[in-house]
Amino acid sequence: MSVRSSATPYCVIGNPIAHSRSPDIHAYFAARTGQDMLYERCLAPIDGFAATVRQLIADGYGGASITVPFKLEAAALADRLTARAQAAGAVNTLLFGADGIVGDNTDGAGLVGDIVRNAGVSIAGKRVLVLGAGGAVRGAILPLLSERPGALVIANRTRATADALAAHFKGHADGHAGAHAGGHNVSACDFADIGAPGGEHAAPFDIVINGTSASLAGALPPVPAAAFAHGALAYDMMYGARPTPFMAFAAAHGALARDGLGMLVEQAAEAFFLWRGVRPATDEILARLRGAL
Ligand code: ATR
Repeated sequence: MSVRSSATPYCVIGNPIAHSRSPDIHAYFAARTGQDMLYERCLAPIDGFAATVRQLIADGYGGASITVPFKLEAAALADRLTARAQAAGAVNTLLFGADGIVGDNTDGAGLVGDIVRNAGVSIAGKRVLVLGAGGAVRGAILPLLSERPGALVIANRTRATADALAAHFKGHADGHAGAHAGGHNVSACDFADIGAPGGEHAAPFDIVINGTSASLAGALPPVPAAAFAHGALAYDMMYGARPTPFMAFAAAHGALARDGLGMLVEQAAEAFFLWRGVRPATDEILARLRGAL
């Protein structure tokens, strides 16, 4: 596609892509910060991601957001990965620079930004429980550790996946390349271990994050009520017009429930910052999207 305007074009690449809210968010950010940029949707063929990216670069695009199912391919395609993209093993933001393609992952920073800045809940020193061990959770661990939680426990239906994830970040703490302080606080468990009397994970958690895809199916991950400390933050990475089953369950057991709409907006703000060097305010667009759900 040829672009005649002087504005630098960006886009979100996915398949399907029609549902993406990213164009609304970035148009708002651009207007709010006075940045001369365009942002559109780009449907890439399932087997044509790399060719699509090459064409965008030839057309003068500054970068792209990456969504399902291309986040792993984007990581493989990038010439250089940021530390958080490396830790996530997936890329949601590409920057087309003079010296090649930079791959970043802003999802985890978006999650942390929404918890700390928007919800006003500090993570430092807290007991944090993460449910799930798939791609969404993998991207969140390094940014969560950067906040220095007192403990970070990963519970997953398939225990081996949680074990592997915990071992990966413990490895970071053991002085491997890219060592990350705080990795020693990471552990894995089964759902049945959470709150089990006398067990290692008996004590309730201050922050419980649902990173499973259960909400997509309208299902509740098998988290016990004992997981929630009084007044805990229960965060679902998914969002919708109504509370997810996880949010409803958590709220019924005294937790403060929050969905992932703020994470969506904050990961976009982080990408915008990477591209344009300006950090947009997010409160107004978050309220606007909430109203439109
Ligand atoms: P994503 O990229 O969204 O994280 P994924 O990599 O497929 O998707 O991971 C989905 C996660 O949700 C996994 O941790 C999965 O658990 P398994 O590893 O045991 O498959 C978890 N999950 C999905 N449905 C679930 C359910 N109904 N209850 C509990 N966990 C569920």
